[in-house]
Amino acid sequence: MKTKPALRDPKTMARSPGITYQQLLDEDTQTVPDVLRLESPMDFGNEDISIERYTSREWFDREVEFLWQRVWQYTCREEEIPETGDYYKYDIAGQSFLVVRTGPGEIKAYPNACLHRGRMLKEYDGRVSDFRCAFHGFCWSLDGKLKDVPARWDFQHVEDEKWKLPELPVATWGGFIFINPDQECEPFEEFIEDIKSQFEGRWPLEKLHIASHTAKTVDANWKIAQEAFCEAYHVNATHPQILMSLGDTNSQVDVWRNCARVITPGGTFSPLLDEQPTKEQMISYAMDLREGEPIPEIPEGMTVRAFRAAGMRAALRGPVGPSIDECSDAELVDSIDYTVFPNFHPWGAYNQIVYRFRPNGNDHRSAIMECIMLAPFEGERPPPAQIQWLAEDESWSEAIGFLGKVFDQDFFNMPKVQQGLESTYKSGVTLASYQESKVRWLHHRLGEFIEEGEKKAGAK
Ligand code: FES
Ligand SMILES: [Fe+2]
Repeated sequence: MKTKPALRDPKTMARSPGITYQQLLDEDTQTVPDVLRLESPMDFGNEDISIERYTSREWFDREVEFLWQRVWQYTCREEEIPETGDYYKYDIAGQSFLVVRTGPGEIKAYPNACLHRGRMLKEYDGRVSDFRCAFHGFCWSLDGKLKDVPARWDFQHVEDEKWKLPELPVATWGGFIFINPDQECEPFEEFIEDIKSQFEGRWPLEKLHIASHTAKTVDANWKIAQEAFCEAYHVNATHPQILMSLGDTNSQVDVWRNCARVITPGGTFSPLLDEQPTKEQMISYAMDLREGEPIPEIPEGMTVRAFRAAGMRAALRGPVGPSIDECSDAELVDSIDYTVFPNFHPWGAYNQIVYRFRPNGNDHRSAIMECIMLAPFEGERPPPAQIQWLAEDESWSEAIGFLGKVFDQDFFNMPKVQQGLESTYKSGVTLASYQESKVRWLHHRLGEFIEEGEKKAGAK
């Protein structure tokens, strides 16, 4: 993509008919936080995205070398390694890393490889007092120092000082632990700044706990899986059941350097519907009510958004406290879907969903999607929910209910997108200028990353 990104003017650019997101915010029953008033629509031009990015092994290999080995990436939550010696095995695109708590407030990360003959040090997550390799028994302390070499007399050429486990840069934000496999990477503070400044003081994700964690693989490139969650344009054809309660094409799309967001308003209806639904229809679709189930009555003069927000406030008053009463309707009913480049998707506000998309091992035609539900809690932090892997024939809806139905519809498309791209005579994927601009941003950053990496490698 050659076009230089440029900010667009929200007042003059082409927009969906119907109420804009900012106009909806004007009707909020509470004060809307500044972060939702930001607008940053970005113009990346309208060039197609090359199909080889999804289908070619060569492109995937470039991603492994110049993206995954160079980018800051989310590994696990702090709450998943609460005690000294707890470690998490993080795998990405054929490589494996260990993220370990080495002391209170101290986390380190190492390549998951023994320095003797290279055996993987750990196959599973767990808790240890040191890392002893299962092959010949070389051992390292938690802080990476060489601790024991069996039959040391035969390894006089091994110098302890040079045999520390290589340390990778580690950082945390919002209770999430990030690593960067590149020891000379950009500072984390610069990388995370865009999203950090927007969440700070309003949406403290570190105060939440993992209420559920579900994962499933799909036969599609990791970007096909991810991009299905980066725009609301597909809702009309893929999820028609939610058009009555979702302003799909009214979504606001904002792009910064390392993060972007699509905000899709809830408790309103799609401008693509021929007829405006009644409030009863909207609420029954929003709540996924069955035929004959009672429809709650909405007080005269109250909007569906305000009604749904009031219900959410009542449900959250216990765990969040009285501050929930000042929380805007928007924060309670809208899908505030943030993405941090390249694959980490923490939603904003009180719809506490986090997605992550990764290649499935070293396979460019298979991906892993994870969905983590974060929740506020009262009293002591509950233990984090264990990851639940869904088998190929298990549905998301069985695991996570209403939202799962939507995921099942998305998953149904993904392998078909892969197969279509393998067969097409077209050389590129064509994107909408505005509604799909988060997808375009992901490709723009990906291209930049790969080019930069190749340049650096060439200069060495
Ligand atoms: S490979 Fe690890 S001790 Fe030999
Ligand atoms: Fe979807």
